[in-house]
Amino acid sequence: MPKRFLIAANWKMNPPPGGFDAPDSPYKSTATVEVVAFPTFLHIRDCVDAGLITGGQCGHPEKSGARTGDISMNMLQTAGCEYVLCGHSERRQSHGVTDEDVAAQVQAALAAKLIPILCVGESKREQEAGRGTDTVQRQLQAFQAGCVVAYEPVWAIGNEAADPKYAQEVHSFIRLQLPSALREKTNILYGGSVNPANAANFLSQPHVDGLLIGGASLKPGDFGKIVQVAEGLGAAGK
Ligand code: PGA
Repeated sequence: MPKRFLIAANWKMNPPPGGFDAPDSPYKSTATVEVVAFPTFLHIRDCVDAGLITGGQCGHPEKSGARTGDISMNMLQTAGCEYVLCGHSERRQSHGVTDEDVAAQVQAALAAKLIPILCVGESKREQEAGRGTDTVQRQLQAFQAGCVVAYEPVWAIGNEAADPKYAQEVHSFIRLQLPSALREKTNILYGGSVNPANAANFLSQPHVDGLLIGGASLKPGDFGKIVQVAEGLGAAGK
């Protein structure tokens, strides 16, 4: 069966965009494109009730306990989430999340029957030093069967998108790092300043199976256009 494109809306610390719960919401999945919304914890229930496929922006690996401010993977699943982001660069940078933490999150997410989206990506300094793929390879050690991978070069987030050909090369590198039985099955998303004008260039790269979108996902019109681009292109994994 051909893979469906996966288009993820990471709303970060913002309220859900207007019309997210409307009958014609652009955040709803279509026959050919799986769309997932990542709201704040406070808005998970609203998204689930609106019929959106919903994910948590992060989750703690422990089931419960003295973890002020945290939410566990099990709690996300009970609230109706189907996905969870693990290791987004903003969590790695500003919350001290380590590779070991991310590996524990991935494991706990799978145990809680959530699909982890393992986020990997190098900094500008690492890229300039020619160590970009070393970082990606190291971060991929948290990969397990059942994960989606999102390649998000840190320098491209909220800034200037990577060259789609560069993304394609790194995606191909990532695929080769995966266990051979999972290589073709695994969705590898690109993230970093995707917009309606560049979405087709990314999605038409052979190893790009979807997109993780921040800024443009807060504009329903732009996000809807990106979903339409994915629909127009048909199946992922061309
Ligand atoms: P951006 O964010 O689309 O605003 O670059 C992507 C992300 O951080 O997931």
